Amino acid sequence: MTNELKIPAHIGIIMDGNGRWAKKQGKPRIFGHKAGMDAIERTAIYAQKLGVKVLTVYAFSTENWTRPLDEVKFIMSLPIDFYSKFVPVLNRENIQIRMIGDRNGVPAATLKAIDRAAEDTKNNTGMILTFAMNYGGRAELLQAVKNIVKSGVEIDEITEQLISDNLTTSIFPENWRDPELIIRTSGELRLSNFLTWQSAYSELLFTDTLWPDFNEASLDMAIAEFSGRDRRFGGVKG
Ligand code: FPP
Repeated sequence: MTNELKIPAHIGIIMDGNGRWAKKQGKPRIFGHKAGMDAIERTAIYAQKLGVKVLTVYAFSTENWTRPLDEVKFIMSLPIDFYSKFVPVLNRENIQIRMIGDRNGVPAATLKAIDRAAEDTKNNTGMILTFAMNYGGRAELLQAVKNIVKSGVEIDEITEQLISDNLTTSIFPENWRDPELIIRTSGELRLSNFLTWQSAYSELLFTDTLWPDFNEASLDMAIAEFSGRDRRFGGVKG
């Protein structure tokens, strides 16, 4: 174990526990999602201070459509309400906004708000904060396979690089596409279809903290744990 802190270039976060957080306070679930947005803001600002290059947050999965309609509608309205408040902060902090996921099915007003936030922050040169919206790792891979087949490429030309180039994370610079660290809050121990291809060598960190309670100290602890891990990528101990 080394004392030197290693900062992951790309961190993915599965933000879980908003509903339980709200319930603990006797409030409706949507109250937890609102508090979850504040947690995104403080985590993004701090991650960028630490030197993280890409922070991808799992905002809505391809499976989340089965939630009660009111809750789905509320989550889809969050970018609209929130970005007007959030974008000036991101511009002050030099953070860029992006989205990954399937745009089909996301309400037009939600897409418009996300696109506007991406446009308004596109000249920033700092960390990329990515919202995984209507995102599913299997759906993403399926789409990549379709694109590759449609392109008419020869079988021998299909490589891992080509697959990576056809995933939604190809919008990131090459070395930052795959998260080095994935954090899941609220004590659940699964990846739930998040960055399926890209997580092949990610370090996984599970914490009992509910997402709205996640803060600077939580990220410090996660990075300290990551720094102490021996990443061998299938090789032998050096
Ligand atoms: C998981 O908690 C949280 C989600 C599925 C949604 C997370 C979304 C946000 C924090 C904000 C969304 C942001 C945008 C831009 C749309 P849960 O509801 O599963 O909590 P529970 O497991 O305690 O019920």
